[in-house]
Amino acid sequence: MDVVVVESAQEVAREAASRVTDFVRRHPTASIGLATGGTQLGLYRLLTDAYRRGQVSFADNRFFMLDEYAGILPTSTNSFQHVVRSEFLDHVDAAPHSLHVLDGTASDLHAEAQRFEQILRDSGGVDLQLLGIGTNGHVGFNEPGSFPNSRTRPVRLHDDTIASNAPYFSSPADVPRAAISQGLETIMEARSILLMATGTTKAKAIAEMIDGQITAECPASILQGHSGATAIVDSAAASLLASRV
Ligand code: GLP
Repeated sequence: MDVVVVESAQEVAREAASRVTDFVRRHPTASIGLATGGTQLGLYRLLTDAYRRGQVSFADNRFFMLDEYAGILPTSTNSFQHVVRSEFLDHVDAAPHSLHVLDGTASDLHAEAQRFEQILRDSGGVDLQLLGIGTNGHVGFNEPGSFPNSRTRPVRLHDDTIASNAPYFSSPADVPRAAISQGLETIMEARSILLMATGTTKAKAIAEMIDGQITAECPASILQGHSGATAIVDSAAASLLASRV
């Protein structure tokens, strides 16, 4: 895994936006896996700006959601598909049906996961997957203990994930306890991966992901085995890396 350390959260977003823009220019029909979380928002803003300046077009891309809360309506501002539409896709020239969602309101989430995996397979897989990281080292909603061979499936959220995501809800009690997420093996099949992390709250997870053993206790550590993965982190998130302390 390549690691790029820059000074600030703004620079993380800038570096990621320049890489995504280059990638899409070189691969205009690429499939892109979209993540959510506060860390992605700066990137989506800069990609929107680049589109408005005529520097990039997303007209021929397909998009795949990384994960979604269970039981949250797609129209809710907490729905991950709502976030990627309202923060990014609605502002660029993405084709109307180019986003493949995970439906967290499906009555059978296992069947929904299999439907999504089938579409992913039929379309040839993800070319570029965007990722954040949880304070506990999760990627997507693959919590500690997730198997390396996990595929898209319904998952239970850990207490620390519920606590981290509580600020996005009116009360911690409103945070869903379950979700549906691409699995670790699904994520690892993406041809390229771009993970962003900012702030001291991510420093421990970033150190374990990069310097630690590959272990289910830090799901993101599996990315050490991906030759096309790059982590872009700010100096706060990098502060516990062996090369920095
Ligand atoms: C959620 C998402 C993850 C994301 C994480 C980090 O838990 N399921 O995919 O990596 O948030 O969020 P933030 O960027 O807000 O720290």
